[in-house]
Amino acid sequence: MSEVRFDNRVAIITGAGNGLGKAYALAMGARGAKVVVNDLGGSAFGDGADKAAADVVVDEIRAAGGDAVANYDSVTDGEKIVQTALDSYGKIDIVINNAGILRDKTFHKMEEKDWDLIYDVHVRGAFKVCHAAWPHMREQNYGRLIFTASAAGIYGNFGQANYSMAKLALHGLSQTLALEGRKRNIFVNTIAPIAGSRLTETVMPQKVVDALRPEFVMPLVLKLCDENSVETGGLYEVGAGWMGKIRLERTLGVTLDTEAGFSPEQVNEAWDKISDFTDASHPRSIGDSMGPIMSNIKS
Ligand SMILES: NC(=O)c1ccc[n+]([C@@H]2O[C@H](COP(=O)([O-])OP(=O)(O)OC[C@H]3O[C@@H](n4cnc5c(N)ncnc54)[C@H](O)[C@@H]3O)[C@@H](O)[C@H]2O)c1
Repeated sequence: MSEVRFDNRVAIITGAGNGLGKAYALAMGARGAKVVVNDLGGSAFGDGADKAAADVVVDEIRAAGGDAVANYDSVTDGEKIVQTALDSYGKIDIVINNAGILRDKTFHKMEEKDWDLIYDVHVRGAFKVCHAAWPHMREQNYGRLIFTASAAGIYGNFGQANYSMAKLALHGLSQTLALEGRKRNIFVNTIAPIAGSRLTETVMPQKVVDALRPEFVMPLVLKLCDENSVETGGLYEVGAGWMGKIRLERTLGVTLDTEAGFSPEQVNEAWDKISDFTDASHPRSIGDSMGPIMSNIKS
């Protein structure tokens, strides 16, 4: 089994002062990466700032013989984080978009500021970091990007409308970046992790929090960032030592007669077939998706 190493690779890990990001940063540093440890050091709800969060992780990487530098900017100033990588190490190879906060409220109690803040940190923040790193990755014909989604985005979760929106948006972004990056050897994947951290300790019993160690998510993330990995456009659920890949499934559907026209009653009549997943297909691209639609266009 060949060892996964990151010698001469420069990695930005956002929100690397705690939880999952810290586990990635320590492991990457131990495996030869030059790590930009980004963390604003605020609360789990997005208030405040503290340089200690990033500093502690940088110190730990250096104490173990690794190379790391701290950055304290918010991901919403992503260009500054990329600039830290360029100033310190001259390039950027890997970006792990991990920084995150929560503003959980049921939708009827949610205020616009709860929506905007979650959008800003998760979506706009990941956009800002990646958009600043992207030209450098294109230029050098190399890049590995990870986005962090959540089961809340994939399946929905009570009290997390804003978070669900942001987390699945990142998967959408990653799908197009995977297409645009492929020719330049820029591979892009998304994980939906589950781990014990300050974000989950309020909703899970301590025993479960302790068992869901961030170190059990780290190996998949490092594998996807490996220069030998050719995976791109994937969405993975991962936690507690289990990991698996998600794909879309679509029923065979029905084709109704556009020339004769069709009514809501006919849609109703066809409902069982529209919803029947027997022999379902698994479209992987817009081309796959459009197939049955285009073939029903009468020339
Ligand atoms: N823990 C889980 O079970 C779980 C589940 C699904 C998704 N996630 C996602 O995984 C990521 C990491 O979560 P975690 O559980 O390790 O949380 P965490 O709170 O332990 O770590 C997140 C880090 O991000 C930093 N951060 C927050 N806003 C920032 C900003 N604007 N700029 C820079 N840094 C910022 C925080 O200071 C913190 O150190 C998040 O994106 C989270 O939404 C976690």
